Amino acid sequence: DIRGVIFDLDGVLTDTAEYHYLGWQKLADEEGLPFNRLANEDLRGVSRRESLLKIVGNKQYSEAQLQEMMDRKNRYYVDFIQTMRPGNVLPGTIALLDELKEAGIKIALGSASKNAQTVIEKLGIADRIDVVADGYSVQQPKPAPDLFLFAAQQLGLKPEQCVVVEDAAAGIEAALAAGMLAIGLGPTERVGAAHVVLPNLAGVHWTELREKLSSDQ
Ligand code: BG6
Ligand code: MG
Repeated sequence: DIRGVIFDLDGVLTDTAEYHYLGWQKLADEEGLPFNRLANEDLRGVSRRESLLKIVGNKQYSEAQLQEMMDRKNRYYVDFIQTMRPGNVLPGTIALLDELKEAGIKIALGSASKNAQTVIEKLGIADRIDVVADGYSVQQPKPAPDLFLFAAQQLGLKPEQCVVVEDAAAGIEAALAAGMLAIGLGPTERVGAAHVVLPNLAGVHWTELREKLSSDQ
């Protein structure tokens, strides 16, 4: 029986991808590194360090330089998210969170981001979330299962009692590695490995979702 739902944040509950993109683009421009929107697509769900390493490619930087660049990009990102408001929650999110609470299903956040707490506060959904697993919670980033296993443990649930909602290939991989059910949001080319694939959470109801998940098993 499903007892908990673990939501990714960026690209699932809100669309912060544009802000991450703008931050990386500014940094890349300053460093003279080739980068564009298309290249940014490969960074969906990818940790800050892995994202930077993809952008720098073969160019050699010291650890101190990499650290400075990660800090700089994060300052740009943090500036961008200051403007976020409750209206930036993606359609369907609030209704689904309410239905889950009503049904007695526990809710966790499972985000790679170190800014997750700030973002859910800006969005005004922090009090709807029982447990936050974020960029500070574990060492190994997605696609390792660690973050989702940590979230389940914090919820007091077994992996098989949890469903993960993700928009990134690495996130679906992490959920499956954790032995959890996975709902993928987006194109099948990206999230097709999930048990259930949906375009987004708009108009999605828990009763129907539960049906789809159980018929897949
Ligand atoms: C993920 C985003 O949720 O968090 C990535 O999809 C981002 O784009 C990663 O790089 C890490 O976020 P942050 O805020 O710690 O740099
Ligand atoms: Mg995501």
